Amino acid sequence: MNKPIIAPSILSANFANLSTDFEMLHRSEADYIHVDVMDGVFVPNISLGLPVIQAMRKLTTKTFDVHLMIVEPDKYIDNFKQAGADILTVHVEACTHLHRTVQKIHSVDMRAGVAINPHTPIHLLEDIINDIDLVCIMSVNPGFGGQKFIENTYTKVAALKELIQKKNATALIEIDGGVSLQNAKKLVEVGANVLVAGNTVFNSENPEQTIQLLKNIV
Ligand code: DX5
Ligand code: ZN
Repeated sequence: MNKPIIAPSILSANFANLSTDFEMLHRSEADYIHVDVMDGVFVPNISLGLPVIQAMRKLTTKTFDVHLMIVEPDKYIDNFKQAGADILTVHVEACTHLHRTVQKIHSVDMRAGVAINPHTPIHLLEDIINDIDLVCIMSVNPGFGGQKFIENTYTKVAALKELIQKKNATALIEIDGGVSLQNAKKLVEVGANVLVAGNTVFNSENPEQTIQLLKNIV
């Protein structure tokens, strides 16, 4: 079994002192930096935007995994590329023309991810799975860090893994929300490739060590 890709979510970082948190992330075993962008419309919260991503980009060479929880993401694809995103993930629930959105993300040389809310079934991805690089399964309702993990996620990971195999697709399976040292192993065992972790990393006594423990969970 491959070790998971670890993506600490900076939503739980100290926004008044991001450079200290980034020093830690940069030297840690983290693979991606997960960046949550919220618009107060698609989700009931507002987080950070383009200038902050641009500023953070100077602090590390690690992959920026940008999760857009916004309506009309197509409008800003070029801007997120310019700000330094490597992976751009949009919500299936926010995209009427998802195929076009994915094409546009690829056309500016970013990897394309598709996120699905807890109520959205895996089978909706059947005709897009071969076109995308990552599926982000939301294991909480998006909008906030530190929420309780939804147990039905394991079934969804297994269903997605089956779909990916059936279609000979290469998309990575990312889990976002409530990931902990308690559930991470089982998630990887059922098929998760990328673990996002906010609260678990940043509210632990030793975030760098927590990242290491997540990385070596299997
Ligand atoms: C939730 C965000 C998550 C969040 C995860 O809307 O998409 O990325 O930061 O935080 P934890 O790991 O604390 O649930
Ligand atoms: Zn996220």
